[in-house]
Amino acid sequence: MVKVIQVGIGGMGNAWINTVQSSGGEVEFSGFVEVSDAIADEQAKKYGLDRSLIFKSLPEALKAVQADGVINVTPPQFHKEISFIALEAGVPVLSEKPLAGTLEDAQAIVQKANETGVLHMITQNYRYHQPLYTLKQVLKSGHLGTISSVTVEFFKGPHFGGFREEMPYPLIIDMSIHHFDLMRYFLESDPISVYGRSWNPPWSWYSGDASASVSLAFANGVTVAYNGSWCAQGQETPWNAHWRFECAKGVVTLREDQVYVQRVTGYESGTGYRQSLHDPIEQIALAPMERMAQAYLLHEFVEAVTQGKAPATTCQDNIKSLGIVFDVVKSFETGTVVQSSV
Ligand SMILES: NC(=O)c1ccc[n+]([C@@H]2O[C@H](COP(=O)([O-])OP(=O)(O)OC[C@H]3O[C@@H](n4cnc5c(N)ncnc54)[C@H](O)[C@@H]3O)[C@@H](O)[C@H]2O)c1
Repeated sequence: MVKVIQVGIGGMGNAWINTVQSSGGEVEFSGFVEVSDAIADEQAKKYGLDRSLIFKSLPEALKAVQADGVINVTPPQFHKEISFIALEAGVPVLSEKPLAGTLEDAQAIVQKANETGVLHMITQNYRYHQPLYTLKQVLKSGHLGTISSVTVEFFKGPHFGGFREEMPYPLIIDMSIHHFDLMRYFLESDPISVYGRSWNPPWSWYSGDASASVSLAFANGVTVAYNGSWCAQGQETPWNAHWRFECAKGVVTLREDQVYVQRVTGYESGTGYRQSLHDPIEQIALAPMERMAQAYLLHEFVEAVTQGKAPATTCQDNIKSLGIVFDVVKSFETGTVVQSSV
């Protein structure tokens, strides 16, 4: 059994408390860290937590209780500080995305993880959402042949309050990191350049730009068109977004969290304009998964801590996904095509 300290127990911390409490004893809490007394009181009551094990700071918690891991669920600006404290104490970290709020902080975390040799892993849970995992299995099978291009549409209108409504480029920094990471996961390639524009619709309730359009060129020759907004006023997509892959032998899409495939079979004979012929659109059954999302990642973290297995989303890998975010922001700010920096 692996003992963890969870830092940040409000907001997304709820999902992690639930995940640990549902891990069937694989993981147990040895303590918590929460800066807000009101949230600590409320969550202790809600989840039946021992209030005396909710500390004010990570050093205090590490001094008081034994831990095999730290789950960091604080806002991005605290990720470097929390990660440094844990890594320097030799305690593996399972950190919420994004790796950090700035590229400099993210690079410092990777350097610290390399120096200490301690595991630091990011929770890119979208990779392990069933619809996206199913889409990955279809692409991995290779049945549709070479991928040429990808179109991604993400439109949501959440009113979060808090840090997201104050940060620069909330869509790209806090949300699109999931979609950029998914592009690397699906394509098994990294971008070589990006170009994007961002804007804030007149009705936006965010201070930073909440809408963007980005074109990404991947090293394997695939072009991705990404269009998104966090202040859509209707016809929202799911959080997993809508995806369309143009492949040599057909098209695969994710729509409303369902995967569809259509294969090309040839084209009409005759002269002049000849229509391509296709099989009917086939809905693909969602792939069975023993564990999903946070539960998948928590189990991967346990296997890494107890058996030394390397997880897919280590900070050393994840900085390539976060690098896309900051290259895109650079493109917004310079109006130029930006060559990949990571
Ligand atoms: N993977 C996902 O799907 C997903 C979804 C939502 C949020 N997140 C990520 O989770 C992280 C937290 O986001 P949130 O929405 O829960 O934020 P939030 O502000 O709602 O909650 C953060 C919690 O951490 C506490 N906190 C803040 N600073 C702290 C510190 N230094 N030490 C201890 N506790 C501290 C706050 O009091 C609060 O309880 C962010 O990195 C965010 O991007 C991920």
